[in-house]
Amino acid sequence: MQHPSIYDREFELDVDWTTEAIVNRRERFYSASQRAFVPYKEPLIFKHGQDQYLWDEKGNKYLDCLSQNLTCSVGYNNPHVTQAVRDQVAKLQHCTTMFFHPIPAHLAEELAATMPAGEDWVVHFMNSGAEAIDMALLLARSYTGNNDIISLANSYHGATFGAQSVTGISGFRHNVMLMPGIQFTPVPDQYRGIHGEGVQSYLDDLDRTIHYGTSGKVAGMFIEPVQGYGGIVPIPEGYISGAFERVRAAGGVCIVDEVQAGIGRTGDHIWSFARHNVVPDIVVIAKGIGNGIPLAAVIARREVAETMATKFYFHTYGANPVACAAGRAVLKTLETYQLIDNAKKVGSALLEVLQNLKDKYDIIGDVRGRGLMMAVELVKNHETKEPATEEMARLFELTRQNGLVASKSGAYRNVLRICPPLCIQMEDVAFFENAINKSFEAL
Ligand SMILES: Cc1ncc(COP(=O)(O)O)c(C=O)c1O
Repeated sequence: MQHPSIYDREFELDVDWTTEAIVNRRERFYSASQRAFVPYKEPLIFKHGQDQYLWDEKGNKYLDCLSQNLTCSVGYNNPHVTQAVRDQVAKLQHCTTMFFHPIPAHLAEELAATMPAGEDWVVHFMNSGAEAIDMALLLARSYTGNNDIISLANSYHGATFGAQSVTGISGFRHNVMLMPGIQFTPVPDQYRGIHGEGVQSYLDDLDRTIHYGTSGKVAGMFIEPVQGYGGIVPIPEGYISGAFERVRAAGGVCIVDEVQAGIGRTGDHIWSFARHNVVPDIVVIAKGIGNGIPLAAVIARREVAETMATKFYFHTYGANPVACAAGRAVLKTLETYQLIDNAKKVGSALLEVLQNLKDKYDIIGDVRGRGLMMAVELVKNHETKEPATEEMARLFELTRQNGLVASKSGAYRNVLRICPPLCIQMEDVAFFENAINKSFEAL
């Protein structure tokens, strides 16, 4: 129903797109905490994107291999997501959860349907992955009545106080007293892990962590099925199921962090835990579900989530209908365009390109990946696996010059992380191959 608006005057918001002005304004007005994280030597300014491509303010085109930190899952300016967002923002931009709206409820139903059958799943929406991790922490402790939480070394779960406390990389932890009651256990990293390949020794470590580092009673354990900021470390088959058994035997719940690896990115299932044949108690999702619109959720078994029925736990922007409309359009796009299959197909072709490089360049210690989550790890020495951090910094600059946007990651910043939007096409593989080959040649 149209009602005459009082806002009948016209104005424009000016934007100064000159490089110098953008850089200076940011330097002057962003706080250090927001200013500090800059990957390239020279600032990279993006003006627009379409599908898997980005353009900077000077009109240079890039093949995006980062998806804005794995958020833009189904591509830039995806027409279905854009339309869903436009339609909803024009009708009602927010409806706080004190009131009722159909769109978030539809998305909750659709997300619950993606979870393993046979359980009763419920959803709590919020805005960021770290918020969702915090809620998972609270749920695990409230539901079990236990305090001790286990997390994997080399994990990243976010920047809030709680999420940072379960993050197992020093570079992401601030030097303050973080949350107590968190124990880290070695990650079964098949390349760099303390026991090398295999699963059993790492499960034995987990037994020891529970035995020596906790009261014997555990609230829960967090696992990213493919560690993201840790440098794309896929958790091997058998570990997650073994860990779940041990955590449950100690009274805990099993929490899967699908913030990076979820939404079909691994090219097999919508959730990366599915290939491990496990049923988690709590699943944390964010990033790709909103395709760049802030949206996150904790999906939990009803019995676990019911623990909080009598306590106030409110996110002002939780279940925002615009973000949830984007989330619905993302799920529908994945299905309609079979983007999970696409992730598998194009991911295998890109991985082959990277594996061929490994035969040519001695500096490459490892190439690994699942679907559209790939990594090239540089080392100075194959025996000691000493990280080639400076070489990675140089390679990274070269990939930009050759038209790729990727990221440096891993605890030693020696890993090139390649995670393009799920709509990347087979036709892009040749461009990628040429760009990455030229970058290694120049290195
Ligand atoms: C695996 C994982 N979990 C949680 C988070 C935190 O998400 P956010 O940055 O949206 O708070 C991230 C962010 O990169 C992540 O990679």
